[in-house]
Amino acid sequence: MSEDLKRSAALAAMSEIRSGMRIGLGTGSTAKHFVDLLGAEVANGFECLCVPTSEVTAEQARGLGIPLTTLDDIDGLDVTIDGADEIDRNFQLIKGGGGALLREKIVAAASARMIVIADDSKLVDTLGKFALPIEVNLFGLAATERAIADVMGQFNALGGRTLRKNVDGETFVTDGGHYIVDASFGRISDAKALSSALLEIPGVVQHGLFIDLCSDAYLATPGGTIKLS
Ligand code: 5RP
Repeated sequence: MSEDLKRSAALAAMSEIRSGMRIGLGTGSTAKHFVDLLGAEVANGFECLCVPTSEVTAEQARGLGIPLTTLDDIDGLDVTIDGADEIDRNFQLIKGGGGALLREKIVAAASARMIVIADDSKLVDTLGKFALPIEVNLFGLAATERAIADVMGQFNALGGRTLRKNVDGETFVTDGGHYIVDASFGRISDAKALSSALLEIPGVVQHGLFIDLCSDAYLATPGGTIKLS
């Protein structure tokens, strides 16, 4: 997706933002544009209070002078604006391509609304082409991976799984100090059942299926940005 399209989606979502709002700030290259745009408004005196979904986003927001808080200090958020790796027409998502899925899900769940910004290539008929990120505890990693493999078998996964590495070839570690297993399902026909099965594995901290959390999406196309509600 070109940076122009990412920025267009982010710009369209700015129309949802009102003075005084408490806003969840997503993570990823599209959410980064939204934070930039919000930062420009804050520099012009716009008032808001934000909760970032990753250390990377927190650093960006701080650099732009965006006032930050935590979910321990406020009782909820008005809206969260975040990217997605896949979105279907029922607003079910796969997230976590950037490794921030745990905080992203906590923040989305604490928000009255979650709005996705993306280009329309992220819109799919059925979730699952994008490998599902599963955040796992380091303790008992092999046992957790075996249990994930069993669930993949039960749900007729078409591909395998990998332990995520960073660009240096080292195992990727999330902000919460966990690892990520990327599981290639190919096609996820029952996201709710899969979500439950994965969360039954003790070593699974969270996974990137966002079910019934997102209500709207701004999807950028070369011909303009469309809103799905
Ligand atoms: C990070 C995420 C991102 O929102 C998702 O990966 C989309 O990123 P991008 O906007 O860079 O395509 O879930 O954990």
